[in-house]
Amino acid sequence: MPTARLTIDPHFTVGRVDRNVFGGFVEHLGRHVYDGIYEPTHPTADADGFRADVVELVKELGVSTIRYPGGNFVSGFRWEDSVGPRDERPRRLDLAWHSTETNEVGLHEFATWLDKVGSDLMLAVNLGTRGTLEALDLLEYANLPGGTALSQRRIDNGRTDAFGVKMWCLGNEMDGPWQLGHRSADDYGKIASQAAKAMRQLDPSIELVVCGSSSAHMPTFGEWERVVLTHTYDDVDYISCHAYYEEKDGDLGSFLASAVDMDGFIETVVATADHVKAVVGSEKTINISFDEWNVWYLSRFQNVDRIEGLDNWPVAPRLLEDVYSVADAVVFGNLMISLIRHADRVTSASLAQLVNVIAPIMTEPGGPAWRQTTFFPFSITSRLAQGEALELKLDAPTYRTAEYGEVPLVDAVATHDADAGRSAVFLVNRSQDEAVTLTVDIAALGDASVLEAHTLADDDVYAKNTLAEPERVAPRRNDSVRIEGGELTITLPPVSWTALSLG
Ligand code: AHR
Repeated sequence: MPTARLTIDPHFTVGRVDRNVFGGFVEHLGRHVYDGIYEPTHPTADADGFRADVVELVKELGVSTIRYPGGNFVSGFRWEDSVGPRDERPRRLDLAWHSTETNEVGLHEFATWLDKVGSDLMLAVNLGTRGTLEALDLLEYANLPGGTALSQRRIDNGRTDAFGVKMWCLGNEMDGPWQLGHRSADDYGKIASQAAKAMRQLDPSIELVVCGSSSAHMPTFGEWERVVLTHTYDDVDYISCHAYYEEKDGDLGSFLASAVDMDGFIETVVATADHVKAVVGSEKTINISFDEWNVWYLSRFQNVDRIEGLDNWPVAPRLLEDVYSVADAVVFGNLMISLIRHADRVTSASLAQLVNVIAPIMTEPGGPAWRQTTFFPFSITSRLAQGEALELKLDAPTYRTAEYGEVPLVDAVATHDADAGRSAVFLVNRSQDEAVTLTVDIAALGDASVLEAHTLADDDVYAKNTLAEPERVAPRRNDSVRIEGGELTITLPPVSWTALSLG
């Protein structure tokens, strides 16, 4: 059995884990909003039409800030359509997903839902087909207490207190040729700078996210960040990163190492942002909002799911309804490890997405809601990763991947909350056939004991939770864990994700 060794010392910290790293993303896409979070005829629906079973699962997931309303959707969105009396709201084409948007759920309804799940709102403005004026209008409508036509309109629409939205995204994936209003880095950088300056003039307390690359594999990656930040460095607080991973051509070994790609992505964007900081001579540091990340079988959407036809614009079609396996959940948990490992610079992140659409939560109309395999790494990490992310010393065997070369068999991150006297360790074993015995030097934690030990693994790495078998996969207690003489030992099964809570 391969062995690995980890040393944890709470004196060596990377940075505080920001709660915003456990954010989510709700886009008007497929059955996310309609038939997902909102289904007035469902047996559990509350007076506002929201499914109470979904609300409970979102609360259990532990999501902080939620980005809304897109995604690609936002680049064709007219926010005014989504407020005011419901029977007067227009039905519109959603060009991004070839669907019809009824606008039955809009800004007010979504904010009501957020109150139920206990999450904060992060809004994206449309800089694809609209511009600074419309962004300003939405900001005034949302954040101004009163005294103007737009703020009064919000009050008349039933919301006396301002929404007080703190984080705003300046468009979405403007580097992507699929994006409505896609632009060059130079053109987008200029528009984003103008919009940001104007929005701050209205409300200086807001935090702004400028669009980075849609993936580290875009042909403009790196140069996009440099040019966009050169235009906007002093106007914004964050640059976004988006990344999706999938198993391609049966290459599970490379897929399991996806976090290696995410690490490189983050570190390259940090280097680029710091390069621009030096060039423009700024005191400020730009951090990363990793506001779309997940496992997504994008090739299936491109080849199978795509909707077409001038007379075919369905409402809430089944789109991007990936069903996740144990292997997907292990990669997903590893992506969370990567985000936390970079806690000093990744201070906001949004899991894309939450319900039905590449989601940890699935629903059937009139039927049950259930947890996908990816639900568990998110809910457990969000609950246990508190305090400071720690710098670790990890010695592990390596294996060869087609995509990323030689990579470690084991990956890990740890957090320490001095006030609570708790630590947490998150681990993956990427081996497809061998368990790994891990020894963790925890002497520096003092007299620690194991409070929780969860492992997600299965003899069938492609096992999934489905409507027919919604509880097929769940984490189990790892009974192999022992502590003796300042050392913890644990067996990590092949293709597994593990979380330990020590106190
Ligand atoms: O999350 C699905 C889509 O992925 C989003 O709409 C877009 O921003 C990204 O390409």
